Amino acid sequence: MADVAAVRGTGLDVSRVRADFPPLAEEVRPGVPLRYFDSAATALKPAPVVEAVREFLADYPANVHRGLHVLSERATEAFEGARLKVAAHLGVDDPAQVIFTRGTTEAINLVARSWGRMALKPGDAIVLSELEHHANIVPWQMIAAETGAVLRYVDLTDDLEYDLDSFDRLFDDGRVRMVATTGMSNVTGVRPPVEEIARRARGRGARVLIDAAQSLAHEGLDVVELGIDFAAFSGHKVFGPTGVGVLYGKRELLEAMEPVLGGGNMVLRVERDRAVWNELPDKFEAGTPPIAEVIGLGAAIDYIESLDAEAVARHERGLIEHAHATLGAVEGFRLLGPSDTAGKGPIVGFTLDGTHPHDLSHLLDRHGIAIRAGHHCAMPLHTRLGIPASARASFALYNTKDEIDRLAEALGSIKTMLRRR
Ligand code: ALA
Repeated sequence: MADVAAVRGTGLDVSRVRADFPPLAEEVRPGVPLRYFDSAATALKPAPVVEAVREFLADYPANVHRGLHVLSERATEAFEGARLKVAAHLGVDDPAQVIFTRGTTEAINLVARSWGRMALKPGDAIVLSELEHHANIVPWQMIAAETGAVLRYVDLTDDLEYDLDSFDRLFDDGRVRMVATTGMSNVTGVRPPVEEIARRARGRGARVLIDAAQSLAHEGLDVVELGIDFAAFSGHKVFGPTGVGVLYGKRELLEAMEPVLGGGNMVLRVERDRAVWNELPDKFEAGTPPIAEVIGLGAAIDYIESLDAEAVARHERGLIEHAHATLGAVEGFRLLGPSDTAGKGPIVGFTLDGTHPHDLSHLLDRHGIAIRAGHHCAMPLHTRLGIPASARASFALYNTKDEIDRLAEALGSIKTMLRRR
């Protein structure tokens, strides 16, 4: 079988992995199998995640932390168990440093508002790059407008990689308080050197936030080893449900920060005119949390942990190398970002001469191929590239080289069809 042959030697049994993701066995139309290259938008969910969510909804759909009855205790155990799994996955001993949010966007907004209001003064600087997703730009623009802080952008090289010399110069006046960086560009797959960024920023007294929305599906994140202050990611990009995300924060910062949302669960005591905040993590989790989604995320973390991380990394490296080679050979294919695969994850942003990315994605859909087209919530990057939109094929552990060959063939036939018009 091509799928098995395609990954021989990587140590990952991809046909077994694929069996865990039912949509991969589906035909989107009769005779047209699904080729799913949109995992950077949202990853498919393995059967154990679906089952964990189903089980909660069917068997013990009670609220957490409130009831003193069997179902509530079971729900609380599963919910807090998921927190322990996330903490262990991030290398964190203290699960109270793991805050459940609705997603990466909400997690970064929480830091920008709460930490920003506490720490930023007029003239202070927040360092970003044009690689960022809007979720790691707009919250900082909002808090900058509120506090009088300013945004500074690190220069990118022609290959859209961090220019570390320019990064260093941003600190010259001693005003940088925060460096907020993606762990992996959602457009080009470029992986900024987060270890070096964190080391240099910390050495200059700045806080560091990593937007791990894209990177965590492909590589581990040891927040303690990196010494970072905050990290954010979304459940749905790591094979879990939508509607849940995580904010990791250093305890002393989370303790000093004010909650952003008020309501039930986040308080110890409420009087007519004041309230006393609860301990971490509840202080930041007002209201009934996304219980089913958190439990599903716990199952997703279990799923990732059940696989050999090195074998997954080897497999995905094989995919991106193969994608660069085969897609790069298609006439009119233009890759965004570096052609060298060494510093990037399994994401290919591209344009195809003579086609609008939206038309391209519709035409590929006829071949059963799912990609994303648009600005990918990264308008500053597209402005820099001088294009309004791009196409993106993003891969995950369940994809194969054989599927990438089908994408290359489809691009080739679309190009031929358009030439004949
Ligand atoms: N942030 C997601 C993406 O890049 C939706 O597609």
